[in-house]
Amino acid sequence: MKRTPLFQPFITNLEMRLVKKALKSGNLSRGPFVESFEQKFAEFVGCRFAIAVSSGTAGLDICLKALGIAQNDEIITSAYSFVASANCILYQKAKPVFCDINPTNGLINTRNIKKQLSNKTKAILPVDIFGQKCDLSTIRKFGLPIIVDACESFGAPILPGALAHVYGFYPNKQITTGEGGMIVTDDEDFATKLRSLRNQGFKKSKDYLNEIDIGYNFRMSDINAALGVAQLQNTKRILNKRRKAAFFYAKALCKTNEVQPVLDERDCNISIFNYPIICKSVAVRDSIIKEFTKNNIEHSLGFPPLLDFKYIERLADAKSSDFPNTKKFAQRLLCLPIFTSISKRQIKRIVRSIEQGIKNAQG
Ligand SMILES: Cc1ncc(COP(=O)(O)O)c(C=O)c1O
Repeated sequence: MKRTPLFQPFITNLEMRLVKKALKSGNLSRGPFVESFEQKFAEFVGCRFAIAVSSGTAGLDICLKALGIAQNDEIITSAYSFVASANCILYQKAKPVFCDINPTNGLINTRNIKKQLSNKTKAILPVDIFGQKCDLSTIRKFGLPIIVDACESFGAPILPGALAHVYGFYPNKQITTGEGGMIVTDDEDFATKLRSLRNQGFKKSKDYLNEIDIGYNFRMSDINAALGVAQLQNTKRILNKRRKAAFFYAKALCKTNEVQPVLDERDCNISIFNYPIICKSVAVRDSIIKEFTKNNIEHSLGFPPLLDFKYIERLADAKSSDFPNTKKFAQRLLCLPIFTSISKRQIKRIVRSIEQGIKNAQG
């Protein structure tokens, strides 16, 4: 049976043409495409500054470095995310302090944040899981710098209150640069620090030998940026197609109570990144997975709770069992294939497998 992939980048002739142009230009790095991508990206999201980096992880890392986060500092984040949002805290030798999630959508439960604050808390790092934006109106009241892990939420409107939002462009994302990331901010000083940190700490200063501090090579190449410029031009089409696919899924799945879509596809504040569903029980999920495997349908179980990683448990000095919503959510979550060019026929086939899986589970 033909494989249905979990994700697939949307590459048109425009992407081919611009990447070829970058290759032919001789400016494979630090050329005009990076600048153009940054400018167009800043315009698209409505922020003053955009800083292209080599990955979302690199972007999160230098945001915390630019804030001066250091050993013994604490950063509050979600117990349910991709491992990079905890790793970027651990890179600074700081401590991730986790919060449990809302049981229905997987986002950090802002009511839990207050309990986790201490005099060591230096920042909050909420995560826009599955293209949903975190509620910053509550988080900003704590008066701490907010760095949003927006790696999954490109295309969702930015909400005010954060110092920076960090995007990722791995090929499963709404738009891709192969590998890459983008930090956006309205704060000029912060943007200047980030530009310096991504490029070995260099500064435009006559006395730079005395002034610069340790930096990194987290630059994006012009080849990746050319891909990004083309993807930005195709963004409207990409986001519309993904939303239509989500609508089609929601309609096809509404006949069953055994699985519940996580996303409200009508919500304009959500950008469709993937299509997660919550299964009524672990047995239902296992049975659907069996059908998917039989029918060559790729799928993902989402993320394990961050505290299930032994090194995080050790360094964060917390236990997975303290976050019951996260545990329950992760146990029953299943991410269905979704990509810009997915057809109705493919979705129908996936839904048929889900229905069969449910039937088998019911015996
Ligand atoms: C929530 C989240 N944070 C961070 C990242 C890291 O981004 P990258 O893979 O570009 O380093 C990802 C990427 O998948 C992600 O989904």
